[in-house]
Amino acid sequence: MLLVVNHLRIAFGDAVPVRDVCFSVPEHGKVAIVGESGCGKSLTALSLQKDHPDVKMAYVFQNPGESLNPVMRVGGQIAEVLPKGLSKAEARARILDLLARCKLDDPARVADSYPCELSGGQQQRAMIAMALAAEPQLLVADEPTTALDVTTQRGVLELVDGLAAESGMAVLLITHNLGLVAGRSDWVNVMYAGEIVEAGPVAEVLAHPRHPYTQGLLAAVPALDAPMDAPLADIPGTVPPPNAWPSGCAFHPRCPHATDRCRREAPPPRAIGACTIRCFQGE
Ligand SMILES: Nc1ncnc2c1ncn2[C@@H]1O[C@H](COP(=O)(O)OP(=O)(O)OP(=O)(O)O)[C@@H](O)[C@H]1O
Ligand code: SF4
Ligand SMILES: [Mg+2]
Repeated sequence: MLLVVNHLRIAFGDAVPVRDVCFSVPEHGKVAIVGESGCGKSLTALSLQKDHPDVKMAYVFQNPGESLNPVMRVGGQIAEVLPKGLSKAEARARILDLLARCKLDDPARVADSYPCELSGGQQQRAMIAMALAAEPQLLVADEPTTALDVTTQRGVLELVDGLAAESGMAVLLITHNLGLVAGRSDWVNVMYAGEIVEAGPVAEVLAHPRHPYTQGLLAAVPALDAPMDAPLADIPGTVPPPNAWPSGCAFHPRCPHATDRCRREAPPPRAIGACTIRCFQGE
């Protein structure tokens, strides 16, 4: 395994936005974390590097503003991440090659541009080139829930898929859209209220979602192709804040199958075949 996350807990005072999270990423693996806004996906992802200092990771945020320095030319930013000891000419050649691999048409112009001189799509590709410059073993692609052009976004994910196939790097995809993991990730972790509520091979979870939350996410997939923070079609309400996770099963206020037991007791993880779910239903 490239990395193993064991009972990860992240707390800020009374708020515990990440609770008992366990998952692993195999070498060259394709793993996804899926859930609505505020479920703890990004906090989980951001803790990985600190807890696994020996794994070379790079992060791609789909909002380039979070990664690119506005006052530095793109080429210079990529140069900072390249392995040390290259000559100036070698570094320049490497930068242009990376930009070309990220399907930027005029690599020399892009390298000499400031981020504001590029389109949003070009900025995203430049950001991926910067992530690749470090030759990561794991690329973490974190998609925020802001309204983004869906075509651009799919283009970025397809680029990441192609680059991963070429380089063999593992990919951890973070998204609210269960539809995006189909045919892209091998393993999915569905997160709700700071916990993984269902995990399993993508094909199996998509064909037989067992947790009511996963079922709701799946029912919402067509709608999620439009506005990124649209409410779930079949599940009323929203994710509560982490200092107010409900008692028992945290999903109970929104669950169509909730019983008194669900309100009192927290369901522990339970294995069903290759999958694991936290739900009393069907026990
Ligand atoms: N430094 C912090 N202090 C307190 N609470 C925090 C802090 N950082 C994040 N949180 C809270 O933890 C919860 C989970 O945050 P996180 O960013 O991991 O969510 P997410 O699943 O990535 O959501 P999104 O899809 O919107 O990106 C949120 O309610 C957030 O407000
Ligand atoms: S444990 Fe109960 S409330 Fe929670 S998801 Fe299962 S049925 Fe719904
Ligand atoms: Mg996030």
